[in-house]
Amino acid sequence: MISLSHVSKSYFLGEEEVKAVSDISIEIKQKEYLSILGTSGSGKSTLMYLIGLLETPTTGKITLDGKDVSKLSDDTLSSLRNRYIGFVFQSFNLINKFTVMENVLLPTRYVKKGLDFNPVSRTEDLLKRFGIWERRNFFPNKISGGQQQRVAIARALIMKPEIILADEPTGNLDTKTGDEILDILEDLNKDFGVTVILVTHEKVVADRTKRKIYIKDGALAKKYL
Ligand SMILES: Nc1ncnc2c1ncn2[C@@H]1O[C@H](COP(=O)(O)OP(=O)(O)O)[C@@H](O)[C@H]1O
Ligand SMILES: [Mg+2]
Repeated sequence: MISLSHVSKSYFLGEEEVKAVSDISIEIKQKEYLSILGTSGSGKSTLMYLIGLLETPTTGKITLDGKDVSKLSDDTLSSLRNRYIGFVFQSFNLINKFTVMENVLLPTRYVKKGLDFNPVSRTEDLLKRFGIWERRNFFPNKISGGQQQRVAIARALIMKPEIILADEPTGNLDTKTGDEILDILEDLNKDFGVTVILVTHEKVVADRTKRKIYIKDGALAKKYL
């Protein structure tokens, strides 16, 4: 469904070129459950942003369902993202001035044409499934980290995406809470066929997924470290 062909991404700091991702070719199929494993600074997040169409490659080609997305306009890219991809981050990235309910509903507000579901009842379903319905009128800074990450996952799912990209989703959580979040991501893949891509520097986290991609100095590697 998503394929990267010889994709590189450089950042320029003045004269200096930082090659965050270097000549990566990978194919991600529908309903896959995979992890991207590498040490800090190895280029994992940059690779995830490229797969998630948040960044455009410096060189190389990215296709989504066979369609070249490397050169689409920002507007087209953001509507593709909103429709196909849900993001989950280490620091949850909820909006503190909005309630739990409002945070989950947010992606539906950007859609001009009619949705094929009722946003409020879908939000209710998701919050109940994740055990945080009682927290619906709370603000994010009044609930625990594990609860915030559940809200973030609900928000990532509200548009019925085909892919969930999770960047170190357990990084700010204790082991037990982190495991519960990984259980949720695993169930999404197993029970609902959502493609889940887990970015992590922890081998034990990556070991839970069906396929592992190792990355070192921005390039694919055969093993971790
Ligand atoms: N926006 C940016 N500007 C400049 N350098 C960046 C930027 N984002 C990432 N980098 C650099 O690219 C490399 C890979 O970063 P990143 O993808 O965040 O790695 P990881 O997620 O594995 O820690 C690092 O050297 C980082 O400093
Ligand atoms: Mg990172």
